Amino acid sequence: MSKTVTLANKTSFEAESSQTILEAARSQNIALEHSCRTGRCGVCKAKVTQGTTEAMKPEESLTEEEKSKGFILTCCRSTSTDLQLDIQDLGELGQIQVKTLPCRINNIQQLADDVVEVVLRTPPKSNLAYLSGQYVDMIGNDGLRRSYSIANAPREDGQITLQIRKVKNGQMSHYWFNEAKNNDLLRMEGPLGTFCLRKTKASILILLATGTGIAPVKAILEQLSAKPELNTYSQIHVYWGGRTRQDLYWLPDFPELELNYTPVLSRSSDWDGKSGYVQQVVLADGLNLENAVVYACGSETMIHDAHAQFTAAGLAENQFHSDAFVSSN
Ligand SMILES: Cc1cc2nc3c(=O)[nH]c(=O)nc-3n(C[C@H](O)[C@H](O)[C@H](O)COP(=O)(O)OP(=O)(O)OC[C@H]3O[C@@H](n4cnc5c(N)ncnc54)[C@H](O)[C@@H]3O)c2cc1C
Ligand code: FES
Repeated sequence: MSKTVTLANKTSFEAESSQTILEAARSQNIALEHSCRTGRCGVCKAKVTQGTTEAMKPEESLTEEEKSKGFILTCCRSTSTDLQLDIQDLGELGQIQVKTLPCRINNIQQLADDVVEVVLRTPPKSNLAYLSGQYVDMIGNDGLRRSYSIANAPREDGQITLQIRKVKNGQMSHYWFNEAKNNDLLRMEGPLGTFCLRKTKASILILLATGTGIAPVKAILEQLSAKPELNTYSQIHVYWGGRTRQDLYWLPDFPELELNYTPVLSRSSDWDGKSGYVQQVVLADGLNLENAVVYACGSETMIHDAHAQFTAAGLAENQFHSDAFVSSN
């Protein structure tokens, strides 16, 4: 028998014991904060205020202290009773349909030694609606599934671009870097994730990325550039971190946005730009974090450190949004 899950804003939905709470919400067009859906990033953390839940997967990103205080990960747990959670749903985002679609590779281009850009075409009538910043799961012919951020704002022709970094001994990396060719047929499921611009009173927008974490940032910048009414910010800062020069394979070029773009390298001696880690450079630049909203995408370490250091420096907890490129296996 299904149970009722009620959120802090009184939105409620039914959940079966065979579904995670996140899946149950999504099946009823209710969007809850999430990113990895595998227990690793912590974005779907919620506090149970009433009821009991059952773990379906290990909750790797919860500390023992958080567990003892009643926090759960909605991507890992089902409910065994009617349940109350202290989180709210994300309103309109719930109306965006998640679809599984066939797609073909239109083009593959090397962006750096270890990064390729893959352009995918979707069936003409598939109308995959998504918000800039969201990601898709790519599914290979053998059923292998990996998540990749969409690197472009929605286009008329429905094309989707991915920026894919080669991971050593990676199963899907092996396909992208050794086997993939134009016209290959794949499947994608999406859009997924809640890493997209939200309405906010904050006037400083800080977009922070490491490596291919720049992909959803690029999509967000394209969206802001195409829809000036969404640009409610007095300043937009983009910080992009890599190890060496070749990691910075793209240059933001949006004259109408008056971007403050700061490339940052952590392991380059012949570099006269900013050195170190992106989160340290943001702090050193002295931006007013009390009046900022931050979107951080890329390595787990960067996101963890940026969250801890920025909130300690005055950033409101609910003004930090992230997509950590955690491993899926
Ligand atoms: C929400 C989300 C969005 C993502 N978007 C992108 C994107 O836009 N571009 C992109 O390049 N990647 C992205 N990723 C990462 C991507 O999904 C894969 O995890 C990555 O490409 C590795 O897959 P693989 O099959 O090649 O390696 P696997 O076979 O999964 O892993 C091989 C080995 O490498 C380790 N490993 C896997 N991933 C990493 C990593 N990121 N860092 C260090 N070690 C790792 C594994 O633990 C394993 O030991 C995203 C991940 C998530 C969760
Ligand atoms: S831990 Fe649940 S979405 Fe990442």
